[in-house]
Amino acid sequence: MTRPAAPKVRQAIEAMQPYSPPTSGRGGMLRLDFNENTVGCSPRVVQKLRQAATADFLTVYPEYESARREMAAFFGVAADELTFSDGTDEGIHVVLQTFVNPGDEVLIPAPAFPMFKFYSQVADAKPVLVTYPETDLAFPLDELLAAISPRTGAIIIANPNNPTGTAIDLATIERILQKASGAAVLIDEAYFEFYGVTALKLLASYPNLFVSRTFSKTYGLAGLRVGCVFSQAQNMAAMRKGQSPYSVTSLGITCALEAVKDQDYLNAYVREVLKARSQLYAALGRLGIESFPSEANFILTRYKDDETALRIYTELKARGILVRPRGKEVARTVRFTVGNQEQTGRLIAGLEEIL
Ligand SMILES: Cc1ncc(COP(=O)(O)O)c(C=O)c1O
Repeated sequence: MTRPAAPKVRQAIEAMQPYSPPTSGRGGMLRLDFNENTVGCSPRVVQKLRQAATADFLTVYPEYESARREMAAFFGVAADELTFSDGTDEGIHVVLQTFVNPGDEVLIPAPAFPMFKFYSQVADAKPVLVTYPETDLAFPLDELLAAISPRTGAIIIANPNNPTGTAIDLATIERILQKASGAAVLIDEAYFEFYGVTALKLLASYPNLFVSRTFSKTYGLAGLRVGCVFSQAQNMAAMRKGQSPYSVTSLGITCALEAVKDQDYLNAYVREVLKARSQLYAALGRLGIESFPSEANFILTRYKDDETALRIYTELKARGILVRPRGKEVARTVRFTVGNQEQTGRLIAGLEEIL
């Protein structure tokens, strides 16, 4: 008997570079590397999780309908304009698998959150990176508008952008939406709470607009994997046809609903981070470190050469502080997540010692 052959990996997957998320070793360190909440979620969420986690609750499949109504009311949209997703990641995946055909172009202003390219490749689409100029990292609007064509299946923009921290206004988003008729335009608002400008306002006017939000960042629930995607009802219905019917856990939904009820906690954290961000900008200025204008809870910094950037990363790590080198995307850069003022003080002290 001949041995059966293993299945052939799809060409699109074969061609991808594997993504390597942090695997271990972040425990006990000051985590200024993944733009998470650095002090933890609202205590009310932990309390709710403890109460909810009964054997009875865990036995049943999640039910989304009333949760969707409640969450939609919080965001000021209709219930049929919201879909829960297993983090933003699944949201991006489902938008692309629903609206992009193999071979379509997905336009991505770059540097960008790596999952935009990743899921474009999974969908067998062609990611087209429209690059920010290295000098000032200004949003490449003219280049993006010029790249839109009948081949454009989707455009994905994080606003504020990761890793640059820079943001665009609603007028700019509207110019893109106008030009990209028939394509899915996804505005990823993972860092919305630090910026305060949302494209959700444009939802009724643009049937090609998608907006995503996450509970992984400001809300401090990255481990639970909950996000939301918003678009007009007909788009949401199409998306849900191809989405796993139970991709978000009942505990995740329960915690996200509790998290939005504690806006005092959220607002206090945002205020604290914004103060710490000013503190960090002042210190970077004093230390002569180049930085870019951030509307998020992180700052991208640039050094005279790659060795200096690497030294900043390794020497901070030796002091128990994790940051993210971003030199593969923008030469000579390192990204610092902004935590609270005490944590930012530790980062500044580390930088002062190293330089
Ligand atoms: C722009 C952007 N979108 C989405 C995410 C990930 O979100 P989630 O944890 O909801 O999948 C990140 C995380 O770094 C991000 O920077």
